[in-house]
Amino acid sequence: MLPYGRQWIDENDIAEVAEVLTSDWLTTGPWVRDFEHALAERGGARHAVSATSGTAALHMAYAAAGIGPGDEVITTPMTYVATASGAMHCGASVVFADIEEDTGNLDPVAVAAAVSERTRIVAAVDYAGQPADMDRLNAIAHEVGALTVEDGAHSVGSTYRGRPVGSLADLTTFSFFPTKNLTTAEGGAVLTDDDTLALAADEFHRIGVSRDRSTYRHPDEGAWWYEVPAIGLNYRLSDVHAALGLSQLGKLDDFKARRAALFARYQELLADVDGLRLPTVRADVDPTWHLYPVRILGGRRREVFDRLREAGIGVQVNYIPVYWHPVFEDLGYRQGMCPNAEQFYREEISLPMFARLTFAEQDRVIETLRGILAA
Ligand SMILES: Cc1ncc(COP(=O)(O)O)c(C=O)c1O
Repeated sequence: MLPYGRQWIDENDIAEVAEVLTSDWLTTGPWVRDFEHALAERGGARHAVSATSGTAALHMAYAAAGIGPGDEVITTPMTYVATASGAMHCGASVVFADIEEDTGNLDPVAVAAAVSERTRIVAAVDYAGQPADMDRLNAIAHEVGALTVEDGAHSVGSTYRGRPVGSLADLTTFSFFPTKNLTTAEGGAVLTDDDTLALAADEFHRIGVSRDRSTYRHPDEGAWWYEVPAIGLNYRLSDVHAALGLSQLGKLDDFKARRAALFARYQELLADVDGLRLPTVRADVDPTWHLYPVRILGGRRREVFDRLREAGIGVQVNYIPVYWHPVFEDLGYRQGMCPNAEQFYREEISLPMFARLTFAEQDRVIETLRGILAA
């Protein structure tokens, strides 16, 4: 089965990881620090705190922002559940705002209609790798005293108006799952320019441990002393994973270029196919394409999905609207809330998209899809 996404690990990655395994540091060591510095630099942020997953990074971002019961987080339903569930782990409520009908990204107009005095965070997702309209979302959020979180799980390496993802929102999160633009096996990170948010995310992912003596309640204790001012979790990325991430980050531009070439070929070679709608790209973005999401028109999505799978092409659907899941239904969320997202979901299929996909493999995907739609 040709997968829809997969990692690309080479000998250099393997050598970098092997070096860690024979060093003194399996975790909390220099590779973690170096990976965080490199991520911050690439994302144009002052701080990066690595994490065990993108899900953990989202939880860290929401915890760092200090949200809790009574607070609202406005987000998109066109995402993986972690964008919403991270806020719920903090006790906050989630308000879903609809997406732009074409890009699949959170619609600033819908967000503006959803903000209230309880809004503490507006959390966007860079769907497929295309950055959300962060300038407008920042303006709406900041107007009501809320922060922005940009879930950049898909968009490591993307830029918006010439600025890198990592520098666009108050807090940005990444995922380094194997299908993502670069991988650490499991992993993620939080990026921010804000010293206080960075320290809070860092302490939260170290079980809440503070080692800043200037803030201690009992500063006169000995050198062994540390304090836990608020509870956290152990979301630390290991040096083994960080070494892989550092090595992969060095190849991000190459990965991005390959993904861009595949994206351009899909756009060109599928342009004349009836019953198909291709992704819309805004003029002010330069994405690292994580997904290639097409829309199957005429109510044929299920049939086309099944036939592509039968032909050995591992397509996916990104995403089931988050509030359709039973856990949200049980909380009172109902179908129909975000019509654009629901229509997008009903039509969407993600075709194979990963740096190592060959043009010959891509041609097979294109020909198979053409054949199915022509039948
Ligand atoms: C948009 C989005 N947010 C968050 C996540 C969670 O990342 P992870 O799988 O690393 O926990 C993912 C990954 O699946 C994702 O696609």
